[in-house]
Amino acid sequence: MDILKKCFEFNGVEELKASGTYFYFRELDSAQGPEVSLNGQRMIMIGSNNYLGLTTHPRVKEAAVRAIEKYGSACAGSRFLNGNLSIHEELEEKLAAFVRKEAAVVFATGYQANLGAISCLVDRHDLVILDQYDHASIIDGCRLSFGRYVKFRHNDMNDLERVLRQEADRSKLIIVDGVFSMEGDIVRLPELVELARRYGARVFLDDAHAIGVLGAEGRGTEEHFGMDDGADLVMGTFSKSLAGIGGFIAGPKKVISWIRHFGRSQIFSASLPPVLVAVVSTCLDVILEEPDLRRRLWENTQKMSQGFEKLGLDTGMSETPVIPVVLKDPMKVYRMCQALADRGVFVNPVISPAVPPGRELLRTSYMATHTTEQLNRVLEAFEDAARENGFI
Ligand SMILES: Cc1ncc(COP(=O)(O)O)c(C=O)c1O
Repeated sequence: MDILKKCFEFNGVEELKASGTYFYFRELDSAQGPEVSLNGQRMIMIGSNNYLGLTTHPRVKEAAVRAIEKYGSACAGSRFLNGNLSIHEELEEKLAAFVRKEAAVVFATGYQANLGAISCLVDRHDLVILDQYDHASIIDGCRLSFGRYVKFRHNDMNDLERVLRQEADRSKLIIVDGVFSMEGDIVRLPELVELARRYGARVFLDDAHAIGVLGAEGRGTEEHFGMDDGADLVMGTFSKSLAGIGGFIAGPKKVISWIRHFGRSQIFSASLPPVLVAVVSTCLDVILEEPDLRRRLWENTQKMSQGFEKLGLDTGMSETPVIPVVLKDPMKVYRMCQALADRGVFVNPVISPAVPPGRELLRTSYMATHTTEQLNRVLEAFEDAARENGFI
């Protein structure tokens, strides 16, 4: 028996490529802006998580250059040992203050933040309760832990209560996305927190798509709902509004100290490069000092969700700059993706396992820096492509 046999016999990629329906690893040769270049062709990008457009913000780029000049390219070691800089500690304080928690710890990616924090918090007899639409990194964190996990129906508080009631005797952690990454709807946090308190569970909020986007100052889901102290722990990633890569967990000092010392994806992995520390720190300043960016992001969001509605396209439950166009069939998704690419629009196809089978969609998302003219072109392309394929 050859362990590599399955790889040699798998032809799925070649088959998709031959049928012209392979839309992965597309090679861009430009910055991740509202327009990108793909094989020399200009395309409007509506597949990016660069919500505030900060990847090319002059202050952010300048901070990155300064950090490289001062600290070089990397720390060549774990935070735990030789790779800890004072700017890491400063960033953690800034992040904690931003999401209004006592303390924070940073990780090299958002994925690693979920993996490390969940796996070290959840013990053999503990239970994790997940929304069925939670991000894959949350599920993988549960798989790495010694505990058990169960799912409740998406954003359904009655179903959550059913699980909480059934599992009354266990130590419980409820983990949810603040903004669900594929559907773009917002967790019903006030009701969820109320249930958690009633049944003695703790709440872990993954605010990857909410930071910089939700709340008057962009502080995330808790601010959106006007909650001072809703979740016990807030997780965030730097790969979306914060224009870098990395992640963090914020919460009570003692819990963060536990994660710092037992979160294996932090201890056994090299520290966040100084350039990214500087980028994220500057993005936090820009978010607070340039609220106009968030206003423009929401204007663009409103324009697009109204535009899709007018075209008769199904945008599911979206309430945020993540707006799915739900087609419920992988081939329909691929056909639209190609038709849109032909019209100069870059959009992401989403099929199972990223969404449940039968929920296949195009995930569109918007930036503060998209112009009205670009968004009009996107709507025209959608209308044209959907008519051509008989979807409207
Ligand atoms: C909800 C959610 N959590 C966690 C992550 C992982 O973050 P990163 O890509 O920064 O590692 C993502 C990224 O796609 C996400 O959407």
